[in-house]
Amino acid sequence: MDDARLEFDRMYAAIANSQVYRQIVHRAFPDLSEWLTPYSAIDLALLERIAQILNVGPNSSFIDLACGLGGPGLWVCERTGASLVGVDFAGAGINAARELARQRGTARASFVDADATHTCLPAKTFDGLMSIDAIQFMDGLSVATEIARLLRPGGIVALTTWEALADDLPIATVAKDYCAVFKAAGFSIRHYESLANFRERENALYASVEFYRDALREEIGEDANPLLEEAHDGLARAKEPPRVRKIFLAARCD
Ligand SMILES: C[S@@+](CC[C@H](N)C(=O)[O-])C[C@H]1O[C@@H](n2cnc3c(N)ncnc32)[C@H](O)[C@@H]1O
Repeated sequence: MDDARLEFDRMYAAIANSQVYRQIVHRAFPDLSEWLTPYSAIDLALLERIAQILNVGPNSSFIDLACGLGGPGLWVCERTGASLVGVDFAGAGINAARELARQRGTARASFVDADATHTCLPAKTFDGLMSIDAIQFMDGLSVATEIARLLRPGGIVALTTWEALADDLPIATVAKDYCAVFKAAGFSIRHYESLANFRERENALYASVEFYRDALREEIGEDANPLLEEAHDGLARAKEPPRVRKIFLAARCD
């Protein structure tokens, strides 16, 4: 298992059943349904927009690529009535997503433990694909090419990710221009937007982690450390000029 995969896997194993993590998310994002515990700074308006732009319904299917604990994709699945396949390479996230679907009685959702750049799912099968705060961790062209392979002609991808504003980011895979990446993979761009409120949302999550620091440590012990460190570093970073922008991109597979 590579380092990033191991880190996500450990984190999900620690927080999947954490009541404190649930409280952290709810304090930061009271607009989200309480069962929907993302590992990202998503907001309800954006989930609504994703559901709308994907334009899927009861007779169609979509993927949530890098679905984490499964909540955002399940929300869109319930909202639209479409069938969902969630994909993530962190097995603990996939297990938690399956359990969440079971608890919610969502029979038309399934989850696959796979790398997002080589999913092994059938080609030209899906009407839409969403992905939240994840493709920045992957080689851009590889993931865009895999998305093009999975979608039927005319299928829509709607995603959020970060774009690099500097050359020396610690995550080397963050692209500077995802429109160019998706065009190179055969997509036409339908919507591109830099999300103005993303730092406020991230900071709200970090501040909430700090607020529940002791409770989180008490509940999950040392497994809390990566989250606490991320929140601490994130709040420190917020005082500096941004080195990434968060974008919302929607594109059509031609
Ligand atoms: C910031 S989390 C977002 C999770 C989820 N989309 C959400 O909003 O809660 C990023 C996710 O990307 C997944 N990920 C990163 N690289 C991946 C890859 N190459 N293949 C599959 N999943 C990957 C991680 O396991 C993690 O679940």
